[in-house]
Amino acid sequence: MKVNNKHYRTIWPDPHNNRHICIIDQRQLPHEFVIETLTTGEQAITAIQEMHVRGAGLIGATAGFAMFLASMEAPELDFTAYLTSFAEMLGNSRPTARNLIWAIDRVLAAIDDIPDIAEKRDRAFTTACAIADEDAHFCKQIGEHGLDIIKEISRKKQGAPVNILTHCNAGWLAFVDHGSATAPIYAARDAGIPVHVWVDETRPWNQGARLTAWELQQENIANTLICDNCGGHLMQHGMVDLVIVGTDRTTHTGDVANKIGTYLKALAAHDNNIPFYVALPSSTFDWKLDNGMAIPIEQRSEKEITTISGKDEYGEISTVTLTASGTKAANYGFDVTPARLITGLITERGVVKAEREAIHRLFPEHDAQRDTFSGRVMKKREQRKFIRHDSLHLLDYIVLDEQGNPGTYSMGRTIDVSVDGIKLETAIALAANTRLLITIGIEDDLVELEGRTTHAHPQDGRYISGVTFLKISRNGRRVLSKYVEAFRQRKRELQKKQEEA
Ligand code: MRU
Repeated sequence: MKVNNKHYRTIWPDPHNNRHICIIDQRQLPHEFVIETLTTGEQAITAIQEMHVRGAGLIGATAGFAMFLASMEAPELDFTAYLTSFAEMLGNSRPTARNLIWAIDRVLAAIDDIPDIAEKRDRAFTTACAIADEDAHFCKQIGEHGLDIIKEISRKKQGAPVNILTHCNAGWLAFVDHGSATAPIYAARDAGIPVHVWVDETRPWNQGARLTAWELQQENIANTLICDNCGGHLMQHGMVDLVIVGTDRTTHTGDVANKIGTYLKALAAHDNNIPFYVALPSSTFDWKLDNGMAIPIEQRSEKEITTISGKDEYGEISTVTLTASGTKAANYGFDVTPARLITGLITERGVVKAEREAIHRLFPEHDAQRDTFSGRVMKKREQRKFIRHDSLHLLDYIVLDEQGNPGTYSMGRTIDVSVDGIKLETAIALAANTRLLITIGIEDDLVELEGRTTHAHPQDGRYISGVTFLKISRNGRRVLSKYVEAFRQRKRELQKKQEEA
């Protein structure tokens, strides 16, 4: 899209040296337009973590190029190990963003069976470029599908401007080009339909105030900035015809994680009978998570809430503190809007209901990826059958809600264990602080241990979670100690076997 009438993408390889990747440093917008050059994988991780780049598609595209930069740095003799550990660090840089993991996995899969290192590097580069191109192309298609929704509202309003409310920045700055939520707006403008956008400021980082308002201005789209609490009032007074937002991760059942505050807008839209659409490329779908409540929610620095930056009267950018010293703040980056509050998802293949069946009908190639056992709670008898004495690494767990009611049942693998906690590998991502009931077995003893997850990170298409045990009974502790000892012994034996081989 345009900046001072010149077309830009948000990320591109430097035409003079394609080992250098150019980005727009979004921390400086709207006051300064600064192009930054990334030359190392580590710089790319910092750019994602510290939000020089942000937004679903752009995080994915940057991750693709980060993998390329890391592939250039990886020593030939240790190439795979280096890249795997880099991928793990990169994958942890923004935990809610689905596109991040999707892009990392795509690059790893693309280079996996290539024996020659130089060729691997070339393929990492072309894959990263393909991710970026595809993102821009899919957003354009999202625009075309979303245009029909705006057209219909405009027809009903007999050509009066269509008022669209958006939250955060799901504009071109959040993707490679066009944006997701903004793509239908740009398409409507191009089709000659008058539109006006209500832009939520989106505290604490102010993506709406700093980025969305600025990019719409650059594209000559009428827009008005509002504070985050204003949307409900506008909806009650018939001043909003449609809400379109983006998403950082959407489950294949239609629950949507998006910037904090989105859920409240969806509730207000529902109460006022206003259509609420979410625009996303398919790279943002999480094909494994059944329930949006399991989406990991990033928590960021308190400083983003207790301070604010802007241009002062002398034209200098400065940061001021808003709060009394010592004020505690909780900075949850995202919330989850349940599928039932969503009118539809606007994807590159068309508009679809936020429902499992409809989503899978549109993307049938992802059917095979559903490998959870959601909704099934195992009975003790079944557990005994499952926990074989020769399978110390297998366990089963149930996700509990805050009241202790059982939810998703699934199986996992013990990666490591002590009497205080366990590291486990699961097929589904578990949000930090998830309450779990884990069952482990040793000989004829079976014990249920309650714990809470501390962290989760993706690895080879699965997830590794740390779990700290909560209160354990004396008998539980006895069984656990036996299990820990047997597990360690077994690990030592396996290690020895490997070394011998
Ligand atoms: O924290 P950010 O800025 O990376 O958050 C992402 C967002 O901009 C929003 O949540 C957006 O609406 C979805 S990403 C297209």
